[in-house]
Amino acid sequence: AGKKTFTMIKPDAFGAGNAGAIIKIIEEAGFRIEAAKLTKLSAERAGQFYEVHKERPFYKDLVAYMSSGPIIAMVLEKENAVEDFRKLIGATNPAEAEEGTIRKQFATSIEANAIHGSDSDENAAIEAGFFFSATERF
Ligand code: CMP
Repeated sequence: AGKKTFTMIKPDAFGAGNAGAIIKIIEEAGFRIEAAKLTKLSAERAGQFYEVHKERPFYKDLVAYMSSGPIIAMVLEKENAVEDFRKLIGATNPAEAEEGTIRKQFATSIEANAIHGSDSDENAAIEAGFFFSATERF
């Protein structure tokens, strides 16, 4: 398994002032921050990022929501990063997320679910490249 994953603290969690608490959980779980930035996606950039979901009924709302406020994008390093991070964040729908997961603690709905985690090593590399150049990774 790969050693990298990509995450975003989404507009709901950043706006609620939960970024610090979430980053603390991530670091305490053994992930090293390789890259990080506070940024805001335009609707166009959000649409590109979620291109794979273009045909889904929730796509338009998702793009509007993800471009509604600042996010923190990060590349994280750890053995088995993608799988371990998805366990740490919990199910997409916070109603189904396990106790102790980031989404259980901080998500408000299936859409405003606090945090993103890449679903494969391949997508982690693509998503990291969408936000960061080589000189922004340490
Ligand atoms: P994430 O898994 O990070 O990337 C896709 C996002 O689409 C997901 O988080 C949610 O924010 C959103 N999403 C997924 N499924 C639904 C759904 N059924 N209704 C609304 N939003 C969804």
